[in-house]
Order: sequence, then C-alpha cells, then structure tokens
Amino acid sequence: MVFLRCHRSKYIWATLGVLAFLWLYIFPVYRIPSDKEMVDEVLRQGQIWTRNQTGVDLYRKLLTECCDPKRMFAVTKENSPIGKVLWYDGEIYHYHTVNNETYPFFVQDTPLQLPLKKCSVVGNGGVLKHSGCGKEIDQADFIMRCNLPPLSKEYTTDVGTRTHLVSANPSIIEKNFQNLLWSRKSFVESMKAFGSSYIYIPAFSMKPGTDPSLRAYHTLADSASSQTVLFANPDFLKNVGRFWKNHGVHGKRLSTGLFLVSLALGLCEEVTTYGFWPFSVGLDERPVSHHYYDNILPSSRFHTMPEEFLQLWHLHKSGTLRMRVGDCAKEGQEPKREK
Ligand SMILES: *[C@@H]1O[C@H](CO)[C@@H](O)[C@H](O)[C@H]1NC(C)=O
Ligand SMILES: *[C@@H]1O[C@H](CO)[C@@H](O)[C@H](O)[C@H]1NC(C)=O
Repeated sequence: MVFLRCHRSKYIWATLGVLAFLWLYIFPVYRIPSDKEMVDEVLRQGQIWTRNQTGVDLYRKLLTECCDPKRMFAVTKENSPIGKVLWYDGEIYHYHTVNNETYPFFVQDTPLQLPLKKCSVVGNGGVLKHSGCGKEIDQADFIMRCNLPPLSKEYTTDVGTRTHLVSANPSIIEKNFQNLLWSRKSFVESMKAFGSSYIYIPAFSMKPGTDPSLRAYHTLADSASSQTVLFANPDFLKNVGRFWKNHGVHGKRLSTGLFLVSLALGLCEEVTTYGFWPFSVGLDERPVSHHYYDNILPSSRFHTMPEEFLQLWHLHKSGTLRMRVGDCAKEGQEPKREK
C-alpha cells in the first residue's frame, strides 16, 4: 500500500512536471524590457556599429538551411506545379491545390537578380518621423517596404522614395480598397508610388485573403502596370515562423517586417533596417506614434513586436545587420534631437 502510494505520487509529480514544462513552452515566462530600459540601452550603444561578416554568413546559412529564401520565398511555377498542395500558413486544415486556373498567376522562377548587395528594409514605425533617413534608405541597391505604406511628398525626407519590393496584406486591400470589388482606380493610382517594384502578397496565408489577392493581380495586369505580383509562399512563411520561434519569438504570427528582414538576411550582402521601433517613447524620450503616418495601434493578439525587436537588436549588436532607430541626418553623433 505504502509502496503503491509512493509510486502514485511519483507519477503525479512527473505528470505535473510535464504539464508545467508544456505550460512554459506554450506561455513562456520571460520579461521584455520596458520602453525606458530599451531607450537607455540603445542610447548607451550609440551609433557605434561594425559589420560582423561571421554573423552575416552565419545567418545567411541558417536561413538558407531552414527556409531556402532564394528558391522558396514566392510561389513560382518551379516550386508549385499543378497539383501541388499549398497549406495556408495562417490557418489550420485549409489548403489550395494549384490548378490550371491559379498556375498562370505564378512567376516562372525567383525573378530577383541575386545576390543583392545593400538592402534597406523599411518598417513603418513612427520613429521614422523627422529622422531624415530618406536619402540613406534610397541609397541602397534593393529597398523593401511593408504593407503599401504612404510615400507622399510630406514623408519622403524621412522614408525615401524608391521601392523594389513592397508587401501588401490582403487585409489592407480589404480595408483601403473595398477588396477591389468596386472601383479599382484608387488602387491603381496609389500603386504608382511603388514604381516597377515587386508586390509581395501573402495570398495563401488566410483563406479569405486569396480572392482579393487574385483580384489585385488582375487589377494590376489590366492597368498595364509595370509591377510584378509575387505571392508569398506559405511554406516559406511557415518555416521562417518556426525559425524565429526557436529563437524565442512566441507570437502567433510574425509581423511582415520580420519576414522581410529574414528574406533580406537570406538574400542580401548588407542589411540595414529603418522604422523598427515598437515602443511608445523615442530616444529623445518624447512620445512616438505607432506608424510614421498614423497612430493606430496594432492588435497585440497576433504580433509580439517587442520580442521581435529584441531579436533585431541582438542582430544589430552582433554586427549581423544594422538597425537605424535615431536620426540619419546627423551621422556620427549621438542619436539625439534637440528639443
Ligand atoms: C559575430 O557573429 C558571431 C555569430 O553570430 C558571434 O558569435 C560573434 O560573437 C560576433 N562577433 C562580435 C564581435 O559581436
Ligand atoms: C483545366 O483542367 C480541367 C480538368 O483537368 C480541364 O477540363 C480544362 O480543360 C482545363 N482548362 C484549361 C484552360 O486548360
């Protein structure tokens, strides 16, 4: 009897242990630094930054191994022939089987001229406001932007004008262009800001996003646009998500920004990021709006921006990429602004 009870309690402890472990795995206990702590750390670091070729090579290797961005970042005729099953990465148990209707939408193969040399990845953070980073951003060879951001005149000194790849979430197509069900003119007009860039659309992430994405393709094709629509490959997105999960990013879904940074780390020789700053105060301790063009807060259900930021910050400190969070205009000075 005693033996049995002892045995059973051991069993209970083991079960509790396993449960606790699972709990910690799913809801890990970690502490994200406060806005103030992060500001202090970035200020302490200052503008000093040296490139670390070992880090650059390491991350290119890791990302190539996990996610093969070169071949897989977009859905292509090469990687997705007719009959190929594309599992939606943002849903459970939904898939699209490539058929002779969708196949013609895909580009033949990765159209990028690789390797890319200097890349700017531009997030939309309010920290870009008054940064004067536009010129520096535009000097890169390849410029990526997130989610069809406004590039009108009032912003160009801070965010630049050139674009080579811009992501477009179906939710933006729904919100800003009524899903392209009515007038398509405003969509065509607003896309002109992106020149002849690639429009990177996660068409196979969420089921409701597929039709608007295909309509965006048609709309641009009908308007004889010089832009090329690339559909994000859900396998690539899933693998990149898994990669960062192993590095401690536990959000349900990565932000577009981190997907693009991952793409850049895999494809570019030098990566500089701008406008990634998920905190509500800036380096001058003044409030920072959420975006450089508005202050609409994101749904924290999906993304865990500060966690993502910490990863980028580690990469910055190790010299793997360069993150710009202060003023670009005053090169070589403390990233502070006079009041
Ligand atoms: C350079 O990068 C490697 C790989 O990430 C890292 O182990 C090393 O500490 C970095 N060197 C410096 C000086 O940060
Ligand atoms: C598409 O596939 C279906 C069934 O396999 C076939 O009947 C149809 O003719 C095909 N359409 C085109 C345009 O190839």
